[in-house]
Amino acid sequence: MIQNIKILPNSLHVKFKNNIDDNFPNIWLRDHAKDDENWDQRSHQRKTFTAKLDTNLFIKEASVSENGNYVNILWSDSEKMIKYSTEFLQKNLIKKDTTHQKYSLWRSKDINDQVYLNFDDVVSDDGFKFFLKNLHEYGFCVIKNCKTNMETVDTIANKIGYVRQSIFGGLWEFESNAGMADSAYTQEELRPHTDSTYSKDAPGLQLLLCCELDATGGESIMVDGFKIAETLKEQKEVFEILSNVEVPGKYVGDGVILEARRPIFRHNSKKELTQVSFNNYDRAEFRMENDLMLKFYEAITQFDNLANNIEYQWRHILKPGELLIFNNWRVLHGRGSFQGKRKMAGCYINMEDFESICKINNIF
Ligand SMILES: [Fe+2]
Repeated sequence: MIQNIKILPNSLHVKFKNNIDDNFPNIWLRDHAKDDENWDQRSHQRKTFTAKLDTNLFIKEASVSENGNYVNILWSDSEKMIKYSTEFLQKNLIKKDTTHQKYSLWRSKDINDQVYLNFDDVVSDDGFKFFLKNLHEYGFCVIKNCKTNMETVDTIANKIGYVRQSIFGGLWEFESNAGMADSAYTQEELRPHTDSTYSKDAPGLQLLLCCELDATGGESIMVDGFKIAETLKEQKEVFEILSNVEVPGKYVGDGVILEARRPIFRHNSKKELTQVSFNNYDRAEFRMENDLMLKFYEAITQFDNLANNIEYQWRHILKPGELLIFNNWRVLHGRGSFQGKRKMAGCYINMEDFESICKINNIF
């Protein structure tokens, strides 16, 4: 709710009833006019030709209405009052309160039965929302009692978004297979990593369904990369290097050469951590000044030691009918060495589609 407003030369000062206040610049408010002339209500697209707005535009008149739920503004270039809701203004506060924790950072001891869900529940309306909440909160879930075929993977993927096409196809099935170029097909231990550091838009989710198991070993390993970031934040230099050095990833094989580069800890402009990318297998060659290069090696040693620290690793042998789904922008995955036969099916889903279904279900 809005308590009061004050027209300033180039902005509108808004004081909310919870004592938060902010100055909204005229040009920003005018650019976000949501009346029929400036906004297409059907397509949710802007009609305003922003570059043609008068840079000297000013507020002729402004008032608070409907018990503090709206501000009405009459602009110097318009005849009609434009309405702005409290909700809209609060959503766009510059001093937004970001102290609330959006998800639970974890080490293995923090993970209990909450990550196990049932297929039938997950595909039901209420259960699906609960599943998304858990997946967002912990970065991974295990869906039990699945049918051991590709259709299961397809069904879950299509509840969330759609199957992403990649060099590995859309839906894939694999056993240990020495003929493939990627390390994922071996029986050796796979240390924790994120997939597709060579892709400019790494997959957001990965689904892995165990279809057959006649093997010893082969535990799936999950590590919360955001927890590692939190731990390493205390070591300023290490954290800076992991946050700033763009590490190249490269995939060569199967008729393609894919390359991308980004820091191990990628942040947005608000300095919020948005993505952890680490794959020592796929790291390509690069040089920096020797001093910095040596510091980089120290930093990735710290990172990888935590990723391989048993206290940070949640381990579980996937049984036939169990589907592991995880956020590839946050959780590193690995697999213990095994002997025998293990048949898996899976797919990738784009991050934007995971975010979309979370928004639709009010998860964030
Ligand atoms: Fe992988």
